[in-house]
Amino acid sequence: MTNHTVQLFRVGDEQETELIIETSVPSGTTVMQIIDEHNITLRRFCNQGSCGTCECTVLAGVENLQDKRNGRMPMNPKQVRSCVMEIRGDVEILITQKPSLLESAKAATQKI
Ligand code: FES
Repeated sequence: MTNHTVQLFRVGDEQETELIIETSVPSGTTVMQIIDEHNITLRRFCNQGSCGTCECTVLAGVENLQDKRNGRMPMNPKQVRSCVMEIRGDVEILITQKPSLLESAKAATQKI
Protein backbone atom coordinates (compact mmCIF):
# COMPACT_ATOMS: atom_id res chain seq x y z
CA MET A 1 0.00 0.00 0.00
CA THR A 2 1.23 3.50 -0.81
CA ASN A 3 2.26 5.75 2.05
CA HIS A 4 1.99 9.54 2.11
CA THR A 5 3.70 12.23 4.14
CA VAL A 6 1.42 14.29 6.36
CA GLN A 7 2.51 17.40 8.23
CA LEU A 8 0.24 18.87 10.89
CA PHE A 9 0.70 22.47 12.02
CA ARG A 10 -0.78 24.53 14.80
CA VAL A 11 -0.68 28.25 15.59
CA GLY A 12 1.68 28.74 18.52
CA ASP A 13 1.62 31.18 21.44
CA GLU A 14 3.39 33.83 19.37
CA GLN A 15 0.85 33.36 16.56
CA GLU A 16 3.49 31.59 14.49
CA THR A 17 2.69 28.45 12.54
CA GLU A 18 4.55 25.52 14.06
CA LEU A 19 4.97 22.00 12.80
CA ILE A 20 3.70 19.58 15.46
CA ILE A 21 3.62 16.25 13.60
CA GLU A 22 5.27 14.81 10.53
CA THR A 23 4.31 11.26 9.75
CA SER A 24 3.84 8.73 6.98
CA VAL A 25 0.44 7.08 6.63
CA PRO A 26 -1.19 4.55 4.30
CA SER A 27 -3.52 5.82 1.60
CA GLY A 28 -7.08 6.13 2.93
CA THR A 29 -6.17 7.17 6.48
CA THR A 30 -8.38 10.03 7.67
CA VAL A 31 -6.93 13.23 9.04
CA MET A 32 -8.80 12.58 12.29
CA GLN A 33 -7.15 9.16 12.66
CA ILE A 34 -3.73 10.84 12.52
CA ILE A 35 -4.83 13.45 15.05
CA ASP A 36 -6.05 10.74 17.42
CA GLU A 37 -3.00 8.52 16.99
CA HIS A 38 -0.81 11.42 18.13
CA ASN A 39 -3.08 12.47 21.02
CA ILE A 40 -3.69 15.93 19.59
CA THR A 41 -6.67 17.74 21.07
CA LEU A 42 -9.26 18.46 18.42
CA ARG A 43 -12.90 18.73 19.35
CA ARG A 44 -15.41 16.86 17.27
CA PHE A 45 -19.09 16.27 17.59
CA CYS A 46 -20.64 14.10 14.89
CA ASN A 47 -17.64 12.23 13.40
CA GLN A 48 -19.66 12.02 10.16
CA GLY A 49 -18.75 15.22 8.33
CA SER A 50 -21.97 17.08 9.13
CA CYS A 51 -21.36 19.48 12.03
CA GLY A 52 -18.12 21.24 10.99
CA THR A 53 -16.59 21.16 14.48
CA CYS A 54 -13.42 19.41 13.30
CA GLU A 55 -12.64 21.73 10.37
CA CYS A 56 -9.00 22.39 9.55
CA THR A 57 -7.17 24.39 6.88
CA VAL A 58 -5.11 22.73 4.17
CA LEU A 59 -1.85 24.59 3.56
CA ALA A 60 -0.67 22.35 0.71
CA GLY A 61 -1.91 19.27 -1.12
CA VAL A 62 -5.68 19.83 -1.09
CA GLU A 63 -5.81 17.80 -4.32
CA ASN A 64 -4.51 14.85 -2.26
CA LEU A 65 -7.55 14.76 0.01
CA GLN A 66 -10.77 12.92 -0.70
CA ASP A 67 -14.06 13.16 1.17
CA LYS A 68 -14.98 9.58 2.04
CA ARG A 69 -18.69 10.42 1.80
CA ASN A 70 -18.63 11.31 -1.89
CA GLY A 71 -15.09 10.68 -3.18
CA ARG A 72 -14.56 14.37 -3.99
CA MET A 73 -11.75 16.78 -3.26
CA PRO A 74 -12.70 19.42 -0.65
CA MET A 75 -14.24 22.54 -2.25
CA ASN A 76 -12.70 24.99 0.23
CA PRO A 77 -9.19 24.28 1.59
CA LYS A 78 -9.99 26.47 4.61
CA GLN A 79 -12.94 24.31 5.65
CA VAL A 80 -11.81 20.71 5.54
CA ARG A 81 -13.67 18.30 7.81
CA SER A 82 -10.95 16.12 9.23
CA CYS A 83 -13.22 13.27 10.35
CA VAL A 84 -14.19 12.36 6.76
CA MET A 85 -11.12 13.48 4.83
CA GLU A 86 -8.94 10.65 3.54
CA ILE A 87 -5.28 11.10 2.66
CA ARG A 88 -4.45 10.22 -0.98
CA GLY A 89 -1.10 12.01 -1.26
CA ASP A 90 1.24 14.34 0.64
CA VAL A 91 -0.54 17.11 2.57
CA GLU A 92 0.13 19.92 5.01
CA ILE A 93 -2.72 20.74 7.39
CA LEU A 94 -3.16 23.58 9.86
CA ILE A 95 -5.33 22.85 12.88
CA THR A 96 -7.37 26.00 13.29
CA GLN A 97 -10.27 25.11 15.51
CA LYS A 98 -12.19 28.00 16.99
CA PRO A 99 -14.06 27.58 20.30
CA SER A 100 -17.22 29.18 18.84
CA LEU A 101 -17.55 26.32 16.36
CA LEU A 102 -18.29 23.88 19.13
CA GLU A 103 -21.29 25.88 20.32
CA SER A 104 -22.75 26.27 16.84
CA ALA A 105 -22.21 22.56 16.23
CA LYS A 106 -24.12 21.67 19.39
CA ALA A 107 -26.98 23.96 18.39
CA ALA A 108 -27.17 22.47 14.91
CA THR A 109 -27.20 18.91 16.22
CA GLN A 110 -29.92 19.64 18.78
CA LYS A 111 -32.25 20.70 15.95
CA ILE A 112 -31.92 17.32 14.28
S1 FES B 1 -16.93 16.02 13.83
FE1 FES B 1 -18.61 16.84 12.78
S2 FES B 1 -17.80 17.31 10.81
FE2 FES B 1 -16.17 16.26 11.83
